Amino acid sequence: MVKICCIGAGYVGGPTMAVIALKCPEIEVAVVDISVSRIAAWNSDVLPIYEPGLDEADIVFVSVNTPTKTQGLGAGKAADLTYWESAARMIADVSKSNKIVVEKSTVPVKTAEAIEKILNHNSKGIDFQILSNPEFLAEGTAIQDLFNPDRVLIGGRETSEGQKAIEALRDVYAHWVPVERIICTNLWSAELSKLAANAFLAQRISSVNAMSALCEATGADVSQVSHAVGKDTRIGPKFLNASVGFGGSCFQKDILNLVYICECNGLPEVANYWKQVIKINDYQKTRFVNRIVSSMFNTVSGKKIAILGFAFKKDTGDTRETPAIDVCKGLLGDKALLSIYDPQVNEEQIQRDLAMKKFDWDHPVHLQPVSPTSIKQVNVVWDAYAATKDAHGVCVLTEWDEFKTLDYQRIYDNMRKPAFIFDGRNVVDEAKLREIGFIVYSIGKPLDQWLKDMPAVA
Ligand code: UGA
Repeated sequence: MVKICCIGAGYVGGPTMAVIALKCPEIEVAVVDISVSRIAAWNSDVLPIYEPGLDEADIVFVSVNTPTKTQGLGAGKAADLTYWESAARMIADVSKSNKIVVEKSTVPVKTAEAIEKILNHNSKGIDFQILSNPEFLAEGTAIQDLFNPDRVLIGGRETSEGQKAIEALRDVYAHWVPVERIICTNLWSAELSKLAANAFLAQRISSVNAMSALCEATGADVSQVSHAVGKDTRIGPKFLNASVGFGGSCFQKDILNLVYICECNGLPEVANYWKQVIKINDYQKTRFVNRIVSSMFNTVSGKKIAILGFAFKKDTGDTRETPAIDVCKGLLGDKALLSIYDPQVNEEQIQRDLAMKKFDWDHPVHLQPVSPTSIKQVNVVWDAYAATKDAHGVCVLTEWDEFKTLDYQRIYDNMRKPAFIFDGRNVVDEAKLREIGFIVYSIGKPLDQWLKDMPAVA
């Protein structure tokens, strides 16, 4: 019987192991994670030497977080491999039999080589084979993506032991994934493919968001442009929705990582190319804030602005790198009073996000700085109507379905006039809202006369 152990029960490790356990009844799956008391040990020189299930496992998945470094060499770009290194050292410590160690977390290219060194230098004669098996699931559709993946990617050493390890992992996935969808490559290709896939996806969004600015300037409609462009089968229709910007724990982090790797390899032109994807994303958020402020006579000081949606996309309560953070900070910088409603995100999380420094979110909660006293200009409410009451403007920052069917007449009646709505996700029915009396801004759509008269400078 094959035994699998996974270190890290986060967004990737948890669901992946659940699906393996479900699909492979003869495989025993154990998932371990750092508990509060164990954290102290992880961060000291004395690592926990035993995790239940680990010493007898044949395949060990490592699915721990790899935050962006905030200090030291590569700060703001490079991945911090502290948690990975700890995991590797622990595996070396407790292993009594040969192991296949699977990199599941997204890591910089050549991480496997470093991990291999740690394991082999501490191996006590045990054979370790490293595989890279990056995860492509998206939040909100994790189980669906795992059940029916476009592809499974397994990278390993090109030696006979390496090939055997690849086969062992392929056999696990072959329980439910058609073999033609299981791609086997060398280690570095697998590691790089993951960063490349996220960079390409983010690039599509930045491309369409760059177009959205041009659409507003010319009177074109970005939805129509996306539709027309996406009909080309070489381009395809997915991931072409203009937005206030992409968020989530991966896109920005992985691109920064890619940029760092390019720089380290003496490829500044390639690094700059990918940097632009992030710059356009930041530009889009700034542009949105500037549009709000300029439309309201160049000041939002003391004005109540309702924020509908805080999560980085719908159907999740996840707020990591959500564009809402930058938009809210931008408005707070102009002294607005914010009333925030998200069906899945609570006040504590929002206050923490608005107080936290960049990249801090990717460390375990108890290692994050204690949040300072909550920001007074921010009020979190549990209802869109409460958020919008007496507001001067409404911003839609997450595409929650419920925002499509709100009673906008009621919202309008309870708002200050002129009543503005800034739709960062293109979910509202602009024509209907204009009929009610709103001044409507939708990303990448032809502008109302009011907005044309009050140009925003990004
Ligand atoms: C992303 C990738 O889609 C997954 O394949 C990958 O495995 C994952 O990162 C990861 O590396 O862990 P995720 O971050 O869960 O998944 O979410 P996405 O659905 O990709 O959305 C990312 C952001 O782009 C969201 O803020 C979303 O609103 C935005 N987006 C997406 C747009 O603005 N426009 C679009 O057309 C699509």
